[in-house]
Amino acid sequence: MPPLRSLLIALSHNRPLRRFAERSKIGLQLSSRFVAGTEIDDALRAAETLNQQGMAVTIDSLGESVTSEAEAVAAAMVYHRLLDAIGTRKLSANVSVKLTQMGLRLSCELAEDFAENLVRHAKAMGNFVRVDMEDSSLTQATLDIVRRLHAKPALHGAIGVVIQAYLYRSQADIDQLLADGIRVRLCKGAYNEPAEVAYPRKAEVDANYVRLAEVLLSSETYHGLATHDEAMIAAAKSYAAQHSIDPSRFEFQMLYGIRRDLQRKLVREGYNVRVYLPFGSDWCPYLMRRLAERPANLLFLARNFFRL
Ligand code: FDA
Repeated sequence: MPPLRSLLIALSHNRPLRRFAERSKIGLQLSSRFVAGTEIDDALRAAETLNQQGMAVTIDSLGESVTSEAEAVAAAMVYHRLLDAIGTRKLSANVSVKLTQMGLRLSCELAEDFAENLVRHAKAMGNFVRVDMEDSSLTQATLDIVRRLHAKPALHGAIGVVIQAYLYRSQADIDQLLADGIRVRLCKGAYNEPAEVAYPRKAEVDANYVRLAEVLLSSETYHGLATHDEAMIAAAKSYAAQHSIDPSRFEFQMLYGIRRDLQRKLVREGYNVRVYLPFGSDWCPYLMRRLAERPANLLFLARNFFRL
């Protein structure tokens, strides 16, 4: 991984820096390109606007790696309020959640309990919980929890997970998830992973992305292809067309504030598009990953900084 990318991801774990940035007014203004605001209402308003533009959303209440049960309880409460608000406002929206926000680093049982309550709530509302994928030390625990919850008849179909194309293990994980009928969001992967577990070169990650996307497109289950990479999108479109896979059988997913032109173009072309919509005050690690993916974003933020 290039040194700047590693540095940005390392900075995202620096708690004092995080606290300082997240509490500063300037930090908040700079993050607004990628984060919909700090409050639930901000996210709901942004979701409404995107729905009006023909896009579905998945709402992420920012936060990860909580260090106490009380923080996990608070994080779960926000998601329960979100699910209710989505239902009341009849939004085309589901939720995306990180298991470390539900306490996975404290205890697997704790995180599983919180996730189960959330999925139960979502299922009762006819909604869906997507479990984001974090770094590779958590892949197995995350997949185990998702598979156990999906296997409960009362929760069946209301939970899905994310698979990262940069991991060598992803083909095998996808095979197992497809056998269970679990919905997958395929992304390239945003963490700093060693060559023992992940393809180090972008070309290899891209080639694996295309291979895995084709496997997902050929399955009977509805999946999400999360990428802003036009080459990945073109490959998926062309595979779907060649194999008579109707665009209604899958969706493209992109991050809030990134390639909005491409998001709208796909909608115009008749594809399902879902925007990942993060909100909340714990935005620093999320923003650092976005900068790490595209260091040119640093210039964008710097320009805005001098305009403030
Ligand atoms: P790539 O990085 O090759 O970029 C292709 C092009 O897209 C760039 O040239 C640029 O034009 C544009 N682009 C990409 N990133 C940009 C950025 N930050 N700012 C501006 N332009 C950018 N990861 C993970 O590990 N776990 C997860 O759960 C998720 N969840 C998730 C959900 C959704 C909906 C998306 C879109 C992505 C994720 N990711 C993720 C992040 C993902 O792993 C990956 O890091 C980013 O999507 C960037 O990869 P691309 O596929 O866009 O390609």
